[in-house]
Amino acid sequence: MERVKVVASRRYGTLSPLRYPGGKSALAGLFADVIAALALPTPCYVEPYAGGAGAGIALLRNELVDHLVINDLDPAVHAFWHSVVHKNEAFVELVETTPLTIDEWSAQREIYRAADESDLLALGFAFFYLNRTNRSGVLRGGVIGGLAQTGTYKIDARFNRSTLSERISAIGRLSDKITVSNTDGRAVILAHANDTNAFMYIDPPYVKAGSQLYLNSFEHRDHTALAKVVNGIKGAHWLMTYDTSPLIERLYAKSFQRRYALNYSARHPGQADELMIASRYVADVIRQTELATTDASIGT
Ligand SMILES: C[S@@+](CC[C@H](N)C(=O)[O-])C[C@H]1O[C@@H](n2cnc3c(N)ncnc32)[C@H](O)[C@@H]1O
Repeated sequence: MERVKVVASRRYGTLSPLRYPGGKSALAGLFADVIAALALPTPCYVEPYAGGAGAGIALLRNELVDHLVINDLDPAVHAFWHSVVHKNEAFVELVETTPLTIDEWSAQREIYRAADESDLLALGFAFFYLNRTNRSGVLRGGVIGGLAQTGTYKIDARFNRSTLSERISAIGRLSDKITVSNTDGRAVILAHANDTNAFMYIDPPYVKAGSQLYLNSFEHRDHTALAKVVNGIKGAHWLMTYDTSPLIERLYAKSFQRRYALNYSARHPGQADELMIASRYVADVIRQTELATTDASIGT
C-alpha cells in the first residue's frame, strides 16, 4: 500500500488537558483542511472514541466547527469530560488548589480505583490528577519521580497549574457547544450516520493495542461489528485511524485506505505506521493534499 506524507496547512498546539498516549492532536490540521474543503454549513465534529479529544478541542477553540460531540465508554474518561463541561469552575478550583504530594496522589488513586460514578467531579478529577502525575499518563502506572520522589522529574513535572487551568477554562467557555456522552461508540456513530453536517473522527482501540493505556475490551468481533456500522454510514463524513492489520485492511477493503506515520511518545518511541481510512469525499480531499513519499510523516 502507498505510504503518504499528510500535509496540513497549519498546526494546532496541544489544547487537551489530558495526556493521551498515542493522542491525535497532530491530526487537527488535516481535519481543519478537510472540514473547510467539505464546506459544511454548520459542521458538527464527533469523536465516538474520544479519549483526550485533542483534535476536537483544537477545532472548536479555533471556531472551525460549530459543535463537538465527545463520547467515551470509560466511566472515568466520561466523568472527566462531563465535569469539565458541566462543573467547570469547581474543576478549575481543584486544579489550582489540590496539593501535589504523594499522600494526595495515593488519595486520588483510591478515588479512581473506587470508580464511584455518583460523584462525577471527584472521579473525573482523580482521573485527571493521575493522568497528569503518572509516568506517560498511564493510569495504572507509577507516579513520576517514584514514591520516594528521587527521580529527576517529580510529581509536579506535568502539572503546570496555570496552563491546565487555562485549557480547562477555555473549554468551559465553549460548554454550550459541547455534548458529552458515555455510551458505546457504535451507538454514537449510528446516531450521526445520516447527518451530512457531521464529520466523525473514529479512533477505536487498536487491534494490537497496549491494553494498559486505556479501556480496551475490543476483540475481533468488536472490530467486525464496528466495521459493519461504519461501512453503512450514508450521510456523515468520516475518517478513521487504526494500527495496520490485515484484519482491518480486509474489513474496510471497499474504502479509501492509506498508511501514514505518527510519532508516539509513550510506548513507541520513533515512528509507527498507522492506517487511515476515510469516507468518499474526505478521501477526495486527502488525495489532493497528500504527497506520495517513502519518508512518511505528518508535517506542515
Ligand atoms: C485510541 S483511544 C482514543 C484516543 C483519542 N482519539 C485521542 O487522540 O486522544 C480509544 C478510546 O476509546 C475508549 N473506548 C474503548 N472502548 C469503547 C467503546 N466500546 N465505545 C466508546 N469508547 C470506547 C477508550 O476509553 C479510549 O479512551
